[in-house]
Amino acid sequence: MAMQSLHDVLVDLVKDTYHAEKQLLRALPKLAKAASDESLRRAFEDHLGETETHVTRLERVFGILEMKPVAKTCHGMLGLIEEGAEVMKESDDGTEAAVDAALIAAAQKVEHYEISAYGTMITFAETLGLDEIADIFKETLDEEEAADEKLSAVAEQTVNASAASAGEDDEEGEEGEEKDASDGDKPAAKSKRETSKRTKSSSSDASKSE
Ligand SMILES: [Fe+2]
Repeated sequence: MAMQSLHDVLVDLVKDTYHAEKQLLRALPKLAKAASDESLRRAFEDHLGETETHVTRLERVFGILEMKPVAKTCHGMLGLIEEGAEVMKESDDGTEAAVDAALIAAAQKVEHYEISAYGTMITFAETLGLDEIADIFKETLDEEEAADEKLSAVAEQTVNASAASAGEDDEEGEEGEEKDASDGDKPAAKSKRETSKRTKSSSSDASKSE
């Protein structure tokens, strides 16, 4: 499409977001099914209901723009949903809490992506004097932000701590054996392991930023 004005860019974003929300409609029931924590499952189910409304609101916006609803492939959302699908694929090997923590991480990337899209569309609509559209998108933005905050609350109140202690149980088992063998006069294997982990992650960060 020709992108010659801010109006064109807004229309393009609306089409992209319409596709994104429709993809999310299909993904949320799967995320809910994969979640073990009751409040996380409910958060996904609640957001499914809101996402249906987001699709309807986008259709109203198409109406205001005097267009038929058209979806344009949103590669960003497809990628984020694929990341969530990877978590679900690998969930058989994980603890329930760790899988839930990974599901929340994936879902919050989705929410932040949507928050970005709606924020931009609101600003563009306001600039173009399309106040009705800006107001419609503000309602959705509020719900995306609330969904994001709900996911943070579930993570901070239960899931992260459970996932952290699930990991600790494994490490304690390993360390117990190591300590017994060393009689306590050798440096803890844990700190050596942590050092190598840190080195590894900082070097991979460095390679990423280059
Ligand atoms: Fe949404």
